[in-house]
Amino acid sequence: MSKKKLDQEKQIAAAAAAEMVEDGMKIGLGTGSTINYFLESLGARVKKGLKVQGIPTSERTSVVCREQGIELLDFASVEKLDLAFDGADEVDTDFNMIKGGGGALMREKIVASAADRVVILVDSSKQVENLGSFPLPVEIIKFGFQQVERKFKAVGIDYTMRMTDYGQPYVTDNGNYILDCTMGEIIAPYAMAEKLKLITGVVDSGLFINLCDVLVIGRGKNVEMLENKRK
Ligand code: 5RP
Repeated sequence: MSKKKLDQEKQIAAAAAAEMVEDGMKIGLGTGSTINYFLESLGARVKKGLKVQGIPTSERTSVVCREQGIELLDFASVEKLDLAFDGADEVDTDFNMIKGGGGALMREKIVASAADRVVILVDSSKQVENLGSFPLPVEIIKFGFQQVERKFKAVGIDYTMRMTDYGQPYVTDNGNYILDCTMGEIIAPYAMAEKLKLITGVVDSGLFINLCDVLVIGRGKNVEMLENKRK
């Protein structure tokens, strides 16, 4: 499907999800192009008087929120969020996900874990049988990153260091690096997530296990909302 059509799917999924926000809610705000559409729709509601406060998952999202007049919070003043909204790179049939294509995976996971319900907005290309076609982002600390690379090689994980357009290693908002790992099909995502977290120097992986409550999919001109009944 063309990028234009996929963008339209993101846009209609995002607009439908923005209607789920109720007055007075505290919400999590993900990162990426789909969430930028969501913030546009939410911003339009805020301009009409909707009261909402959000915790952003990246500096980029904070900037968009300010442009849209969406009030920001942080975890110093809130323990629980009503809803968190985010995009995804892949979602499998068990609602497990690969995230972090936009580099914000750690903050996204913290925010998703603090929400009563997590709403994921995607275009139809993101739905897969098994995760793994999309390279799995793994955030690692800068100090001694060569040791993490050696460990990955030793256990047979193929990766590339994420780079900027200027040929420098990409640095996350947390000051870390990202290894994009070519895994092939990930048949046991939970076991893989655990395995990666046990490697010293790994901050976290982009495997989001059982964190999605509602999947909002733009498909053609329609929006589908799927509930994760396992949660
Ligand atoms: C950022 C993410 C994004 O949600 C994911 O990359 C999807 O992005 P987009 O909405 O641009 O397709 O995980 O870290």
